[in-house]
Amino acid sequence: MIDGKIAILAIESSCDETAAAVLVDGRDMRSNIISSQIDIHKLYGGVVPEIASRHHLENINGVVEEALAEAEATMDDIDAIGVTYGPGLVGALLIGLATAKAFALATGKPLVGVHHIHGHICANYIEHKDLEPPFMSLVVSGGHTNIVEVTDYNDCKILGGTRDDAVGEAYDKVARVLGLGYPGGPKIDRIAREGNPDSVEFKRVFLEKGSLDFSFSGIKTGVLNYVNSEKQAGREINTADVAASFQQAVLDVIVTKTVDAAVELKKDKIVVAGGVASNSRLRTMLEEVCGKKGIRLYYPSPVLCTDNAAMIGCAAYYKYIAGEIDDLTLDAVPNLPL
Ligand code: KG4
Ligand code: ZN
Repeated sequence: MIDGKIAILAIESSCDETAAAVLVDGRDMRSNIISSQIDIHKLYGGVVPEIASRHHLENINGVVEEALAEAEATMDDIDAIGVTYGPGLVGALLIGLATAKAFALATGKPLVGVHHIHGHICANYIEHKDLEPPFMSLVVSGGHTNIVEVTDYNDCKILGGTRDDAVGEAYDKVARVLGLGYPGGPKIDRIAREGNPDSVEFKRVFLEKGSLDFSFSGIKTGVLNYVNSEKQAGREINTADVAASFQQAVLDVIVTKTVDAAVELKKDKIVVAGGVASNSRLRTMLEEVCGKKGIRLYYPSPVLCTDNAAMIGCAAYYKYIAGEIDDLTLDAVPNLPL
C-alpha cells in the first residue's frame, strides 16, 4: 500500500521499450520509466527481435529499481505486480515476464498478466481522470490497428483489425521509401503538414460493406509504385505532397470506420490509443467529425501513447481489484487474443 491505497508495480517489454512504473489506485502515476532502444534499431531500419531481447535483459533490473525509487517505494509497499504477457515479440516478452515472476516468487505478491492492447486503452484512464467505460476505442500502433468495443474496465471486444500491415508499420515502410528514416510515423506526421493531401490519389481500401477490418499493404505498394514511376519518368518527387496524400488516404478510412462503429453501437465517446494516436492529422480529423456528431474524444499525451508500463499498471489494477490474478505458470503469448 502507498498512502493507504493499492500500489501496482508494472513491467512492459513486448517490443523495443523496456519499461517499469508504479501506479497508485490505478490512475495515479507515481513513476513511469522508459528505456527506449529506438537509437539502436534505427541502424537496421526496424526492430531486430534478438537485439531487443538482449537489451531488455541488460536494462530491466535498472529500470525497475528506478521506477520504485522515483515513486519513493520499496517492494514492501507493492500490492501486486502487473506485466505484459502478449501480444509481442516472444523473446522480448519473456524478459519482462521472467522478471515479474521472479519478484512475485521472491516477495509472495500476486502476479497480474496484462494484454498489451488492453494496456494501451487504459493509458487514457491515467490521462483523463473522469473517463469511464463504455466507449469505442481505436488502437493504432506499430503492431496493431483495432477498433475495440470497451464495455467495462475488464471487458472489451475487437470489432475489427488489420488483415495485413498495422497502420504504424505502413507509416514506417512508406517513410523508408521516401527516405525519411525510422521510426517513420512522426517524420511523416511532420513533413505532411507542408504537403498537399490531394496531390496524389491513393486508393482508400474500405473492404466489404460493414466491415471494420483494414488493409494497408496495397497503399504501401501504391506509394512505392508512384515513387518508382516518377523517378523513371525523370520527374522530381515532392516528398511532403506524397506523405500528405498517403496519410490522408489511410486516415480517411480509419476515421470513417471508427466513427461509424461508435454511431452504430451508440457510443458517445471515442478513445484513441497506441503510438499512432499522437498523430496530429488523426487528432484534427477525429476532433472535427466527433464535434459534428456530439461524440467526446479522448487520447493520451504522447508519452502515454507509445509503449510504457504505466498503462500496464492501470490495466493490472482493474484486474487485481476484480480478483483476476495469475499464477507463476503464466507464459508469454506472442499472438494473444483480446
Ligand atoms: O505503440 P507503439 O510505441 O508500439 C507498438 O506497440 O507498436 O507504436 C509505435 C508506432 C511506430 O510505427 C511509429 O512510427 C508510430 O507508432 N508513430 C506515429 C507517430 N508517432 C509514433 N505514427 C504516426 N504519427 C505519429 N505522430
Ligand atoms: Zn504498443
